Amino acid sequence: MTETRHPDQAAITEAASLIRDGRLVAFGTETVYGLGGNALDGQAVARIFAAKSRPGFNPLISHVADSKTVFETGKETPLARILADHFWPGPMTLVLDQQPDCPISTLATSGLDSVALRVPANTHARAFLAEAGVPVAAPSANRSGRISPTRAGHVLEELGGNADLAMILDCGAAEGGLESTVIDARGAVPVILRPGSVTDTMIEDATGIIPGNPSGKDSHGIISPGQMESHYAPATPLLLNQNDAGRDTVWIGFGDADAPLCRHAFNLSPRGDLIEAAASLYDLLRQADRIGAVAIAVAPVPHGGIGTAINDRLNRAAKK
Ligand code: TXA
Ligand code: MG
Repeated sequence: MTETRHPDQAAITEAASLIRDGRLVAFGTETVYGLGGNALDGQAVARIFAAKSRPGFNPLISHVADSKTVFETGKETPLARILADHFWPGPMTLVLDQQPDCPISTLATSGLDSVALRVPANTHARAFLAEAGVPVAAPSANRSGRISPTRAGHVLEELGGNADLAMILDCGAAEGGLESTVIDARGAVPVILRPGSVTDTMIEDATGIIPGNPSGKDSHGIISPGQMESHYAPATPLLLNQNDAGRDTVWIGFGDADAPLCRHAFNLSPRGDLIEAAASLYDLLRQADRIGAVAIAVAPVPHGGIGTAINDRLNRAAKK
């Protein structure tokens, strides 16, 4: 049974240690309650998708305690600096280029070269993030397709039965109720990828620049909000639902399925665990692609649960 706790020091210390152990903790921010997991741990991120029953893997926002930590992970631009100084801590997320060796798991970034980062204003949330000491990936703490929770009680209704959700930090009622404004701050012009309570006028007042159009693809070919069509697709043709692979093809197995003749064989999860498979998917696709073979053959991955999201992702990657 998931515990709801008042965010006193003991609860925050415990929540932080649960996060570092790969468990999930829901916490309140000024926008909505987030379902948090260690963003550096692909399996923890996979558990977030599984708990929400998300049909696909959208890239997630990683939450940290201050701007300094943000810019250790994402590359600072003059625009990002101005926005950070004006609106953090607060209901704003910045999309930045990743710093070299950015440790955020590829599942949290959907294998993109960018990363979405936010410093929430809720004081309990910030205390929790500071104590966790790792970026916390957190989409809204509801089951997919349902309304975002703004109170600890809503989270309990949505996800209370989930064994991976170890704790709900009751940080009070979220005043916002609307997810943060997502701004692409990689270039000179701010591009609003998802509207929120930090409005275009506020952004213009802060930066002196009229924000770019949120509709359609931005200059980096990325579609938002939440409608990411172009995830990482390998250059090597991807063949799905294969039962074997030739010597010079790359093989990506799942469970017992293997390709005995193949020289380049990987496995998403030798023990047939979908959570583990989700966590390793983007990394293995990248490794497989680097070999430069004629094709990558992927074993069937069971549908249902997070398997649906894995198949959705594989289908997109195969379509190009
Ligand atoms: O208020 C909020 O932002 C809440 C609370 C919990 O902080 N969180 C939230 O997270 O709404 P999430 O993961 O559901 O929202 C992710 C949004 C999506 O619209 C996604 O497309 C966009 O951020 N996003 C994440 N990474 C991105 C990236 N690298 N490039 C473009 N968009 C990105
Ligand atoms: Mg949501």
